[in-house]
Amino acid sequence: MATDVQQTQSDRRTTVDALLRAGEARLSDAGIRNARQEAVWIVEWALGTTRLALQLDGPRCVEPDDWNRVTALFARRASREPLQYILGTQEFCGMEFTVGPEVLIPRPETEQVVEAVVRQRFAGSAPGIVDIGTGSGCIAVALARALPTAVVYATDRSAGALQMARANAARQGVEDRIRFFAGDLFEPLRGLGLEGRLEAIVSNPPYIPEGDVAGLQPEVRSFEPRLALAGGIDGLDVFRRLIAEAPEFLLPQGTLTLEVGQGQADAVAQLAEAQGGYGRAGRLRDAAGIERVVCFRRK
Ligand SMILES: C[S@@+](CC[C@H](N)C(=O)[O-])C[C@H]1O[C@@H](n2cnc3c(N)ncnc32)[C@H](O)[C@@H]1O
Repeated sequence: MATDVQQTQSDRRTTVDALLRAGEARLSDAGIRNARQEAVWIVEWALGTTRLALQLDGPRCVEPDDWNRVTALFARRASREPLQYILGTQEFCGMEFTVGPEVLIPRPETEQVVEAVVRQRFAGSAPGIVDIGTGSGCIAVALARALPTAVVYATDRSAGALQMARANAARQGVEDRIRFFAGDLFEPLRGLGLEGRLEAIVSNPPYIPEGDVAGLQPEVRSFEPRLALAGGIDGLDVFRRLIAEAPEFLLPQGTLTLEVGQGQADAVAQLAEAQGGYGRAGRLRDAAGIERVVCFRRK
């Protein structure tokens, strides 16, 4: 009888259902709102199964090695490591991008930067486009896929980010249409003969004011690269430099399209006005109604 009880308890501890319950409790205790759903995603990914199979297999026993492996993943998530770094992937513009701690996780609002550029009418048949601060390569890759004749140049100061961006370009079959360069903003593009020849420059630069970084959610402030986040005291440092340097590379009527942080659109438009050489700014709002993309046309 005693043996039966032990056996039952042990089974209860090691079934798929029990694993999901343990994960949900661990994530919920760590303050993760969507704890059940995230526990399901982690188990699906780690055991190479589907939600439906998990439901059907609820009473099935989990091998001790699998239990320990999945529990270790729950612990990572409970430490507030982003789910995307744990699973190693994030969807952007309908494509899967490999992500890790070297790169910012692509955000849905950044898809509007891509949309803004894709909607432009280009004068040339093989438009030259630059993505400054490419990170995972999400913008550059999405543009290369959407504009099959475009030649895309992508820069980043982070060598780790560039390595991941190259891998993502290969994953999406556009590695031969994007050239990657390591370095500071436009610096690595000098000497390539691109001055005055680009149809479009895009960037989602670091734009969080230095003092706001500590107040970001733990997933962002403790795990995403600081180089991808902090944009100087007022968050506008990189915008200043992009707005000052872009005209040298743009064709007349070429565009500079920038993702901006909440409440930054006016300040960025004023920077361009003070710089001169740009027409009136176009703006796009994101799904939350925040002005998210600002686009300038070179006069
Ligand atoms: C906000 S992340 C954007 C990444 C990606 N484009 C996206 O939209 O998800 C900014 C990127 O700019 C890069 N970066 C920051 N300062 C830079 C600089 N001075 N020159 C080039 N890249 C820079 C960071 O390494 C980071 O990958």
